[in-house]
Amino acid sequence: MSKVVKNVEYGLEKIFDGAQDFLPLLGTDYVEFYVGNAKQAAHFYKTAFGFQSLAYAGLETGMKDRVSYVLKQGKIRLVLTTALTSESPIGEHVKKHGDGVKIVALWVEDARSAYEETIKRGAKSYQEPTVSSDEHGEVVTAGIYTYGETVHLFVERKNYSGEFLPGFVSWESDYNPSAVGLKFIDHMVGNVGWGEMNTWVKWYEDVMGFVNFLSFDDKQIHTEYSALMSKVMSNGNGRIKFPINEPAEGKKRSQIEEYLDFYEGPGVQHIAVATDDIIATVSQLKARGVEFLSAPPQAYYDEIPARLGVHMDMMKEDIKELQKLSIMIDADEEGYLLQIFTKPVEDRPTLFFEIIQRMGAKGFGAGNFKALFESIEREQAKRGTL
Ligand code: FE2
Repeated sequence: MSKVVKNVEYGLEKIFDGAQDFLPLLGTDYVEFYVGNAKQAAHFYKTAFGFQSLAYAGLETGMKDRVSYVLKQGKIRLVLTTALTSESPIGEHVKKHGDGVKIVALWVEDARSAYEETIKRGAKSYQEPTVSSDEHGEVVTAGIYTYGETVHLFVERKNYSGEFLPGFVSWESDYNPSAVGLKFIDHMVGNVGWGEMNTWVKWYEDVMGFVNFLSFDDKQIHTEYSALMSKVMSNGNGRIKFPINEPAEGKKRSQIEEYLDFYEGPGVQHIAVATDDIIATVSQLKARGVEFLSAPPQAYYDEIPARLGVHMDMMKEDIKELQKLSIMIDADEEGYLLQIFTKPVEDRPTLFFEIIQRMGAKGFGAGNFKALFESIEREQAKRGTL
C-alpha cells in the first residue's frame, strides 16, 4: 500500500510505497533516561509534570546493578534508570553526558525483523534480539545505535499482558499527584555535530526507511547572534517524527553548540508532548514549579492576528491569556499550533521539554523560531555560554 508524506514547507509530496516500509512502527514505546538519582527524578516527574507511577525494578525485584522507575501519562511512558554500582555503563553514561535520554524505544509488530532489516541496511548493533518472559507472557527486544550513544530499542509486546516489561513489578505508590493532560509524544529532536545533519538524515532514510518531511536552513533559523539547520524525518505512517539539528555559523555560540559542549556529544535535545488544552496544562505545570522560557516581547503578540490570517477566526484561545502564560502561536496553511518550551530539566543546559497543542497545523512552529531562540539566548547570556 502506498502512503503519501507531504512536505508542508515546500508543498512536496513523497510517495512511500509498501515495499519501502520495511520497518512498520506502531508508535513510541517508551523513553528511558539514564540519571544520577532515579528515585528523586521520578518524584520530580510525578510532582511537577503529573506523571503516574506505573512500574518498578530494583534490588527488591532481583535487579542487582540498576534501579528503574516507570511513569505514565496518556500514552507517554518514561523510564528513569540509575546505576547501583560504580562499574556500570549506566554510571559511565551519566558521568559523561549528565542526565539524558539513552533509549528511544519503538513499538513494533516484529522486533527480530526490525533488527534484521536495519542491521542489513547498516545500523550498528546495540542488542541482538532477546526474549524475556514472566507470568504475563513474553517480550522481544532488539536495539541499534543512532546518533551519539543514543539507542533505538525495538519492542515487540504482542504476546505480553503485564504492566511494562518482564522483570518489572507494578509500582503502587501512596503519592499520586494528578495528571496535567499530556497525551503522547509529538516529536523528539536530536542535536548532532557540525556538518553531520545530512549524514543522519541519510541514515534515517537508508536504515530506518524514513523520509525528510520538512527542512529549515540557517537563513530561516537565525537570530542576530546564532543559527542552526534542521531537517524533520518521519516514518511512513507519520507517527514518529525526529527532527535533526546541527549548529550553523553565527556571531556567537548557538544553543546547539552549547548542548553539544555540555552533553559532550550528540543526543536528544527536546521531547515535544501533546496536550488538547495547553492553557490548562501549562497553568498546572507552572503552579507545580516547571520553569519555562520567558515570553516573547509585546510586539510578537501584537503581530499574531496578521500572522494567523484566516486561522484567526477558528482560534478559540484568548491571545491575552496565551501571552500571560508565555505560550507561542504559529500557523501554516492547514491550521495553527500553540507551543511553549521549558528550561533545561537538569543541571547541564541540555535536554528540555516542549508542550504543543496542534489545531490543524502540521509544522513545528517555524514562525516562532526567532522569538524562541532569542529567549534561549537570554538564558545562555546568564550562563555565560552565548
Ligand atoms: Fe519541537
